[in-house]
Amino acid sequence: MKKLKTLAIVMAALMVVACGSEEKKESGIAIIPAENFQKNIGGKEVVLMTIKNNNGLTAQITNYGARLVSLWVPDKDGKFIDVVQGQNTIDSYMNAYELYYGATVGRYANRIANGQFTLDGEEYQLDINDGENHLHGGSKGFFTVVWDAEQVSDNTVRLAYRAMDGEMGYPGNLDVVLNYSLDDDNTLRITYEAETDKPTIVNLSHHSYFNLSGAGKETINDHMLKLYASNFTPTDENLIPTGEIWTVYDTPMDFTEFHAIGDRVEEDYEPLVIAGGYDHNWVLDQADGVKVAAEIYSPESGILMTVYTDEPGIQFYGGNFINGTDRTKDGNGTHGFRSAFCLETQNFPDAPNHENFPSAVLRPGEKYERVCYYAFGIKK
Ligand code: BGC
Repeated sequence: MKKLKTLAIVMAALMVVACGSEEKKESGIAIIPAENFQKNIGGKEVVLMTIKNNNGLTAQITNYGARLVSLWVPDKDGKFIDVVQGQNTIDSYMNAYELYYGATVGRYANRIANGQFTLDGEEYQLDINDGENHLHGGSKGFFTVVWDAEQVSDNTVRLAYRAMDGEMGYPGNLDVVLNYSLDDDNTLRITYEAETDKPTIVNLSHHSYFNLSGAGKETINDHMLKLYASNFTPTDENLIPTGEIWTVYDTPMDFTEFHAIGDRVEEDYEPLVIAGGYDHNWVLDQADGVKVAAEIYSPESGILMTVYTDEPGIQFYGGNFINGTDRTKDGNGTHGFRSAFCLETQNFPDAPNHENFPSAVLRPGEKYERVCYYAFGIKK
């Protein structure tokens, strides 16, 4: 009798497991197990958290670099597909060739020439990690640190980090709080807050590599992009802005109407040749307030992503440096040249060294507050 009872319990358990995995397969959502991210780095525990909205959209976020690991959204047939490139274990993130997958970059996202700036008459030297320049906060920027993490609700996580005075060369202890929430209007909302105890500079951004046909797909050349920007900031050969602001009209930088990314990327236009493709900061036509910055869709999946922000700029990076080294999350392939794009809402690169660019200075008593929203729908 006892044996029979045990058998019944085992069978019931097996059925639950079987149904559970079937459900996952049907919806297309292959949740990465939280165990894959269990690791202690410098005395802090890494975690992987899963959030969901009431329509089934699902995201996974790790506190290692406050990164978005996976994001499943429905395609035109209602099938959920993961639209961000990444890694499926903490070790592979730490060993990845591409350092910024899904990461929160800062204290100053993008480049600062020679890693130098002057604030209130003081000169500061930042960590140099990109040729002679400083990129995305330096070699131990916010994308490499373990943030304090809290799952606030089914659809929201909160991450916090205190960057110390002098860390990567920046002045001031900076307290950063960041929320990711997956809301029922099918929008991933990222909100940033920061406060400092000394004058400093801040520019936080999100570095997901999207492919709206699916994270393992080969190219984004067919994606149709629209940017709400009539101007951009050209750069030198090290991708440092020259300080000029150029019109996009009559150039391959004009995305004021939808264009396929691949259509003009190889044109003989100096800023494109210098950068090896699209890798520039566009100046948003509406500088202040939350507004639409970009819309992009995949004709294959039908997925349309609309980017909102209150920042003055957006970096559209077309994945020119992705080189086939890192494996896809499903392990079936590698991430190749131009297989994903980033749309990084931000202040302008190197703004602390250009008086005509928006100020990036944060002073004690002030609060840095910014938002970046990625809203998902289907292109009609
Ligand atoms: C920059 C690229 C850089 C990449 C690194 C982007 O934000 O615009 O120039 O190579 O980050 O992943």
